[in-house]
Amino acid sequence: MRLSSRLPRGFEPNALTAGLGRLRSEGRGILDLTGSNPTRCGFAYPEAAILAALAQPAVLSYDPDPLGSRSARVAIAAHHGHGLRAEDLLLTASTSEGYGLLFKLLGDPGDEVLVPSPSYPLFDWLARLEGLRARTVPSYFHERWHLDLGAMEAAVSPRTRAVVVVNPNNPTGHFLSQTEWAGLTALCARHGLALLVDEVFADYALEPPADRLGTALIDPDPPCPVFLLSGLSKVAALPQLKLGWIALHGPGAAEYRSALAFLADQYLSVSAPVQAAAPTLLALAPGIRDQVLGRLRTNLATLDAELAAQPHLSRPPVEGGWSMMLRRPAVDTDEACALRLLESASTLVHPGSFFDLPGDGHLVLSLLTPDALFREGLGRIFPLI
Ligand SMILES: Cc1ncc(COP(=O)(O)O)c(C=O)c1O
Repeated sequence: MRLSSRLPRGFEPNALTAGLGRLRSEGRGILDLTGSNPTRCGFAYPEAAILAALAQPAVLSYDPDPLGSRSARVAIAAHHGHGLRAEDLLLTASTSEGYGLLFKLLGDPGDEVLVPSPSYPLFDWLARLEGLRARTVPSYFHERWHLDLGAMEAAVSPRTRAVVVVNPNNPTGHFLSQTEWAGLTALCARHGLALLVDEVFADYALEPPADRLGTALIDPDPPCPVFLLSGLSKVAALPQLKLGWIALHGPGAAEYRSALAFLADQYLSVSAPVQAAAPTLLALAPGIRDQVLGRLRTNLATLDAELAAQPHLSRPPVEGGWSMMLRRPAVDTDEACALRLLESASTLVHPGSFFDLPGDGHLVLSLLTPDALFREGLGRIFPLI
């Protein structure tokens, strides 16, 4: 068998996933503190309304538009506000697919995109599968996370085509500040780079700093092309419906939109039912998000109450998003610690190294975990870290 060199050399699971599989096959119940699938976290979804929205007569006909249905785009534009228009949007089957389209749009094989780290680990593979290389540029922590714009400028090469940022970031929760936005867009403009801004978590601000950039759409006239990515998987906590989108603004937006429409036309991957349902789903989204936000805040309060009795443990601010980082003494590697907690406490956490967090001393937990399980999980792991 001969596979493309874009693929990994092997498909063996990492030590944590392998350990989890072994324990589960032995019948061990595992308390999962990493769950990010909202449909398994005990939220009360408006089920009848969701099902009715997916069962409209419109789903029986096929009327493809490479940009996606206008009614869905109108509803998404209204969700974002800030003057976004239906014409500025292109629908995708997920944010991941959006990255694939943008990497095809912007790069040739061997080109690079810059990604501040720590960040969402999927970028590496999403870029490689399009023949590109994701080059990480470490951010730094001083009271909060900061982009290292000097290091980013130094990392720009003749092959660099774009910068990818997540606002707020996963798992650090870092919202870009307005100063970072100005510096980043100027850097991209200076070097002819596009800026991809993933705002899937933008509706989940928890401890946001006053100078945060709530959304890239606040800037009506960025000096570089900006592609904002989002989708129902976080906006409405409905990942199973597979609807994402790209919003274009800045220089060249109309030309980029034609090229993206050409790319999307080769796949037409967004289903008619989810496009027909999108306006209703977005109308239901605030009620679902309120529950999610309530869960995130409850778990954060539980965590702070428990941390008060654990002077060796702490957490950085959680500006936004669904994850939080626990700081611990680096007595072993993060991965060894996660394996230890899995074996000895039957509890799953993510090591910071999964997200490229520098050094050891960080575990990453999901604040989406049902409250009672979150409290029980902390009780199990705190004596062991
Ligand atoms: C930063 C970020 N972007 C995108 C996604 C995935 O979105 P989608 O389900 O639309 O592909 C995730 C999922 O956790 C994420 O953390």
